[in-house]
Amino acid sequence: MRWSPGPVAVLGLGYVGLPTALALCSAGQRVIGLDTDPHRLDAVRRGAVDLPDADRARLRALAAGPSFTLTGDPAAVAAAGSVVICVPTPVDDHLLPDPRALRAACASVVRHATAGQTIVLASTSYVGTTRELLLDPLADRGLGPASDVFVACAPERIDPGNADRPQAAVPRVVGGATPECGRRAAALLRPVAARVHVVGSPETAELTKLLENTFRAVNIALANEFATIAGHLGLDVTEVVDAAATKPYGFMPFRPGPGAGGHCIPCDPHYLLWQLRAARVPAPLVDTAMTALAARPPAVARRARDILAARGVPARGARVLVAGVAYKPGVADHRESSALRLIEDLLLAGADVAYTDPLIPELPVGGRLLHHRADPAERPWDLVVVHTVHPGQDLGWLEDCGPVLDATYRLQSPKGRYLV
Ligand SMILES: NC(=O)c1ccc[n+]([C@@H]2O[C@H](COP(=O)([O-])OP(=O)(O)OC[C@H]3O[C@@H](n4cnc5c(N)ncnc54)[C@H](O)[C@@H]3O)[C@@H](O)[C@H]2O)c1
Repeated sequence: MRWSPGPVAVLGLGYVGLPTALALCSAGQRVIGLDTDPHRLDAVRRGAVDLPDADRARLRALAAGPSFTLTGDPAAVAAAGSVVICVPTPVDDHLLPDPRALRAACASVVRHATAGQTIVLASTSYVGTTRELLLDPLADRGLGPASDVFVACAPERIDPGNADRPQAAVPRVVGGATPECGRRAAALLRPVAARVHVVGSPETAELTKLLENTFRAVNIALANEFATIAGHLGLDVTEVVDAAATKPYGFMPFRPGPGAGGHCIPCDPHYLLWQLRAARVPAPLVDTAMTALAARPPAVARRARDILAARGVPARGARVLVAGVAYKPGVADHRESSALRLIEDLLLAGADVAYTDPLIPELPVGGRLLHHRADPAERPWDLVVVHTVHPGQDLGWLEDCGPVLDATYRLQSPKGRYLV
């Protein structure tokens, strides 16, 4: 008899899990969407979620039908043929991994797993997570890999907000606990990925994901450093990066910016560093890059204060507008956004800070709740700090709003433009 992966339980219906659930559903699977947060379930039911237009249309079409059901009950896993775990893996205030959601999700999957299931970990985590949180406890329950359950790691690579590269256009790396585990996980994911690249173990898949995002972190930190270098030498870093990018091999353009936010770049390399620290294995390059990334928003805030001072405006009481607070263009997500630390530092300096971002109606920051200014041109600002520019956004108002600190390095030339 031919193996069929469904129905598929998707745990965690966030930026990764919801598009994954919708894609699997569109590919013909019956999907059980499971989230422990009732507010999130309600938002998914109402369609009040941050999704690209194509996924939003999918959600509308599928929400009414029987192939996509929603639940908050972890026991629903028992009714699934396959399980995909997409729960968050953040860091805490000390930049240490906070695996509580992941541990809880894996424990509930282990508790309700049934023989014959394929279980895929899609969350990003330290090397050994799949074995520690799934394979070993499943074996303790008497469910062995490839004889009773089929376990793999297939880290998600989705780039929310990037319409040019939808999830289905991106290849997927899959590492099974055994070759049969890898085959089943690949069969489950093949319909929703550009192609599947099978590696020899879950650990290889876990480290692959950590390499990908550490690579980005290191290169973003390097681009920021080159922005400082170019500024010091009186050169335009954008012109330099564009020129270097004409080299057809051995170079990939990374742009400087206000920092790195979101759920991946500021977090994932810390899962690696944490693990290496315990083993006393040094990773000085990664460590330095992460330290440099964390120091970037305060550097932008310092630059803002220096510009104000040079213009004779005391930081205390200065009217500063931050344009764009989402962690990147095209998403309504401000988790770990570098705008948060930037605004906190400006507030601490006594500035009167406001922000404009059509995708973020309100922003809790520095013990306050700020609200989106729909009309940023309503008053002259002592300084506008451009942090994020969403696709299609009209920034014509920047021409007449006062001096502009362009932390994105992407604006053409509003009058009085400063760089970090
Ligand atoms: N957001 C991205 O751009 C992105 C890209 C690639 C990979 N990832 C990785 O994917 C994983 C998920 O990230 P995300 O951005 O989708 O997170 P998210 O915070 O957007 O969503 C996670 C969801 O999981 C739910 N949840 C928490 N514990 C649960 C449990 N025990 N059972 C069921 N649901 C539970 C939460 O309520 C939330 O709705 C992380 O490991 C992240 O690093 C994220």
